[in-house]
Amino acid sequence: MEEGIVYESQYDDKDYERLLQDLIKYFQLDVTGYKQHRVRRRIDILMKKYSYKTYSDYMKDLRNDPKKWDEFLDKLTINVTEFFRNPEKWEYLQKNIIPMLMKENSSAFKAWSAGCSSGEEPYTLSIVFEEMRARNASILAADLDKFVLAKAQEGIYEERSTINMTTELKDRYFTKLADGKLQVKQLLKSRIKFKQLNLLTDPFEKNFDLIICRNVVIYFDNDAKEGLYKKFAEALRPNGVLFVGSTERIFNYREIGLKTIAPFFYQKEK
Ligand SMILES: C[S@@+](CC[C@H](N)C(=O)[O-])C[C@H]1O[C@@H](n2cnc3c(N)ncnc32)[C@H](O)[C@@H]1O
Repeated sequence: MEEGIVYESQYDDKDYERLLQDLIKYFQLDVTGYKQHRVRRRIDILMKKYSYKTYSDYMKDLRNDPKKWDEFLDKLTINVTEFFRNPEKWEYLQKNIIPMLMKENSSAFKAWSAGCSSGEEPYTLSIVFEEMRARNASILAADLDKFVLAKAQEGIYEERSTINMTTELKDRYFTKLADGKLQVKQLLKSRIKFKQLNLLTDPFEKNFDLIICRNVVIYFDNDAKEGLYKKFAEALRPNGVLFVGSTERIFNYREIGLKTIAPFFYQKEK
């Protein structure tokens, strides 16, 4: 439990422990690194919604009803995202960070959107690469939640998720469908590889020029966060850059071999 935060559940603690074990056993979902009071409060809200008396009853339904599982994962992880989230940061990335990185590696530039949710972030990066004519740049887009990954692969969005984009950019990279939704064009998809991956437990590929991990670690406890940033530092090439969310900060960045080069951008020391 995080320091100072106590959450009193109305449901049985032992039954909850069993639920956590079952999540690992049946769904390979290990939430040990997550802020436990948040996780449990969210699960309890769902328990109340369906008037379950025990977590075991809920687990039975989760195993039998894909819609319930979908909702469960959705509520637990919060997949909120949009294209060009915090546009000024993306502008900085495009104007300063990527050109600097490409001076050292323009032929096989490797980027990773870690915790990519329904795809808005990796497609934003793909748009940036297109705008920069960086045809050889590839993107790994990974998330724990296979439902958001399916949505990402489909690439169809409500107009409101493009609120930070100019009409010109939208026209260039989306096709408007009959129902008003926007479909990303194939040229944005071709450089992206989607993958289901648990940032807390799975091994990482190496040698990334750029890693983007934004608005993901807010759910993690301090140990998990520290461990993850260390793994990111190891996954970057020397001088590679880690781009974090606008409320996020790495306190021990020096210890793990990073330096700050601008707010929310950390560079791996040579
Ligand atoms: C709020 S979204 C952030 C999306 C995007 N990065 C952005 O900033 O707009 C957080 C995403 O992190 C994913 N996530 C949470 N825990 C994860 C884990 N352990 N491994 C991989 N992805 C995880 C969730 O499934 C969710 O899609």
